[in-house]
Amino acid sequence: MGPRRSAASSRGRLLLPLLLLGVSGFFQSYAVEVDIKDASNATCLYANWMMRFLITYESNNGDYKTTTLNLSSSATHNGSVCGNDTQAALVAVQFGEGHSWSINITKNNETYQGDFMTLTYNTNDTAVFPDAKRKGPVTIFIKDPAGPVQLNTVFVCHNSFIIEAENITQIFWNVTVQAFVQNGTVSKKETRCPADRPTSAPTVPPTSANATTPPTTAAPPAPTPPKPVENPDTGNYSLKSGNKTCFLATVGLQLNVSQDKPLLININPKTTVADGACGNTTATLKLNDGNSTLIGFTFAVKNASASVQKFYLREVNVTLLNRLNGSVISSADNNNLSKWDAFLGSSYMCRKEQTLQINENVQVHTFNLWIQPFLVEANKFATAEECLADSDLNFLIPIAVGVALGFLIILVFISYIIGRRKSRTGYQSV
Ligand SMILES: *[C@@H]1O[C@H](CO)[C@@H](O)[C@H](O)[C@H]1NC(C)=O
Ligand SMILES: *[C@@H]1O[C@H](CO)[C@@H](O)[C@H](O)[C@H]1NC(C)=O
Ligand SMILES: *[C@@H]1O[C@H](CO)[C@@H](O)[C@H](O)[C@H]1NC(C)=O
Ligand SMILES: *[C@@H]1O[C@H](CO)[C@@H](O)[C@H](O)[C@H]1NC(C)=O
Ligand SMILES: *[C@@H]1O[C@H](CO)[C@@H](O)[C@H](O)[C@H]1NC(C)=O
Ligand SMILES: *[C@@H]1O[C@H](CO)[C@@H](O)[C@H](O)[C@H]1NC(C)=O
Ligand SMILES: *[C@@H]1O[C@H](CO)[C@@H](O)[C@H](O)[C@H]1NC(C)=O
Ligand SMILES: *[C@@H]1O[C@H](CO)[C@@H](O)[C@H](O)[C@H]1NC(C)=O
Ligand SMILES: *[C@@H]1O[C@H](CO)[C@@H](O)[C@H](O)[C@H]1NC(C)=O
Ligand SMILES: *[C@@H]1O[C@H](CO)[C@@H](O)[C@H](O)[C@H]1NC(C)=O
Ligand SMILES: *[C@@H]1O[C@H](CO)[C@@H](O)[C@H](O)[C@H]1NC(C)=O
Repeated sequence: MGPRRSAASSRGRLLLPLLLLGVSGFFQSYAVEVDIKDASNATCLYANWMMRFLITYESNNGDYKTTTLNLSSSATHNGSVCGNDTQAALVAVQFGEGHSWSINITKNNETYQGDFMTLTYNTNDTAVFPDAKRKGPVTIFIKDPAGPVQLNTVFVCHNSFIIEAENITQIFWNVTVQAFVQNGTVSKKETRCPADRPTSAPTVPPTSANATTPPTTAAPPAPTPPKPVENPDTGNYSLKSGNKTCFLATVGLQLNVSQDKPLLININPKTTVADGACGNTTATLKLNDGNSTLIGFTFAVKNASASVQKFYLREVNVTLLNRLNGSVISSADNNNLSKWDAFLGSSYMCRKEQTLQINENVQVHTFNLWIQPFLVEANKFATAEECLADSDLNFLIPIAVGVALGFLIILVFISYIIGRRKSRTGYQSV
């Protein structure tokens, strides 16, 4: 079978303290080190990292199975090249029974940046794919979602991060990479990944007392009083079709997941990437918060035979992944919703908190919602239809109270008049 191509859009990162991985020694993982020298025997490309792949493949009986592909101790790095202004650098590794992985890194004026990753896995490797229906190499191309790195700095990421593509999850951790190294010396200046930055550093579990963290990353002892849960930050998300924006969303998201006890998770828009698909009658927005939470919103057009059509939110699914190995912890789906409806061609707005019940254990709370899944023009929201909760109640309540008071006054007045009439007629009749 020839190599199969899939230019998958890949997303996301998963954060995890280095220590957590250090403790779980049952993972058979090896670091790869690639140190490429140029013609003058000086280092021009340096990379040292750990990675693992979760691969979904079709088995003999037609089921899909997920397997873990680890690097072996005997990885080679044939074909890696330094690169220069005109040619991309390449880190290429070969491992196990015919598997290989590579990444192209391109240089710009001030920065370098990963371009495409290529994974070739060989389903003839019966240790990893014991019952694969189709045998042979499969090649997947995955766009690197990471941002540019300043030239002459070394990219470092101790925490783990995931990059997902069709049927493949790549998990990286303990990464040190510098392309286009100058003067043969890997820089002392680091560019840290978002996961490593102090503000987003996950708390270190108290059990991991073995001192493998360098003192620089040692967080101050964390007294963690139960914080009141704040509202989530509002994020802007959009989808494109070609180079035209076809889906717009502004929303703050919070999950309420009841496992042992209710857990509130605020989605951080800074680490969240949007993906999905636009369409004429259905549209899906998928969000990956880079911290092991995936949320999908599917909208549909109501097929009322009415001449003016409406759209509505039909389905929401939520998947939580294990931070260690990317396996699914819980998955909730409600495809029978009928929320957030508005006329086709307009947008839907609801600034007040809304709750979507996905199943008995999972709720999605939305804040500052403004969304348009269809017929977006010129990258702008169309006129909004606002939810009842937003607009009406606030000024309806005083109006209602006013009206009720008015009625009361009128009532009192009428009874007064009637009372007077009665008493008058009373007099007259006597
Ligand atoms: C991370 O890499 C460093 C060397 O680069 C190594 O000493 C350390 O053991 C690694 N940690 C883990 C958890 O693999
Ligand atoms: C490059 O340097 C290494 C060790 O520093 C040395 O063993 C090797 O012979 C050198 N190669 C060339 C081509 O100079
Ligand atoms: C870049 O590298 C390629 C291959 O190593 C080489 O052919 C080319 O001349 C180099 N370009 C520059 C500007 O150094
Ligand atoms: C990915 O898995 C799905 C089933 O989960 C399958 O239908 C599809 O063909 C697979 N794609 C690739 C590229 O293997
Ligand atoms: C490399 O060496 C040159 C000449 O010694 C120096 O000017 C330059 O700053 C050095 N670059 C780096 C990144 O150290
Ligand atoms: C990742 O999620 C956990 C659990 O919700 C949270 O404590 C942590 O702050 C999140 N990390 C980032 C960088 O958002
Ligand atoms: C989101 O979009 C709104 C309006 O388009 C803008 O005012 C706001 O600054 C944006 N927020 C972020 C975080 O980009
Ligand atoms: C979270 O969900 C549980 C059960 O679904 C519910 O009892 C609880 O009130 C919810 N908490 C919040 C803050 O919404
Ligand atoms: C809507 O319903 C009509 C008839 O009931 C059908 O012909 C048409 O294909 C439907 N449109 C969509 C988008 O489902
Ligand atoms: C969530 O729904 C979307 C759209 O139907 C689908 O593409 C995605 O695979 C679903 N995810 C899960 C985990 O069910
Ligand atoms: C991931 O880890 C959990 C426990 O840490 C384990 O139960 C699960 O089987 C693992 N999944 C994979 C695919 O390795």
